[in-house]
Amino acid sequence: MTVERTLSIIKPDATRRNLTGAVNKCFEDAGLRIVAQKRIKLSKSQAEDFYAVHKERPFYSDLCDFMTSGPVVVQVLEGENAIAKNREVMGATNPDDAAEGTIRKLFAENVEANSVHGSDSAENAAMEIKFYFKDDEIVG
Ligand code: CMP
Repeated sequence: MTVERTLSIIKPDATRRNLTGAVNKCFEDAGLRIVAQKRIKLSKSQAEDFYAVHKERPFYSDLCDFMTSGPVVVQVLEGENAIAKNREVMGATNPDDAAEGTIRKLFAENVEANSVHGSDSAENAAMEIKFYFKDDEIVG
């Protein structure tokens, strides 16, 4: 059993529709603990840095515009196998492919406005958590 931490973002399509609590309920019902959380407005350069890995993808510019179009809630989720568990709870990137009951199936509008982001590996989780949080802002 490995207790892990992962970075989660509740995206502007979800904050706009007042779904922060509904999304958080999905995490907590799955046994994930929210050990850090803040609501922020990303700057363009923050969004560009955070998604730099997608720089060459055709959707990069639209994605950065979308992520700065309203508030986001950045979070650290903690739990057993939190990285994989969070990805399971989120569902597939494209809501058309997402399993019933997942956050993206329930709430996402489309592949871009897909309500949540979650780290995809332990290495990225560590980097992404550091991107938004200082150590003393995470209280497990
Ligand atoms: P996220 O987990 O935040 O990581 C990259 C994001 O790019 C992804 O979720 C989607 O919201 C977004 N995106 C936009 N268009 C596409 C696409 N065609 N394929 C994959 N991801 C896309």
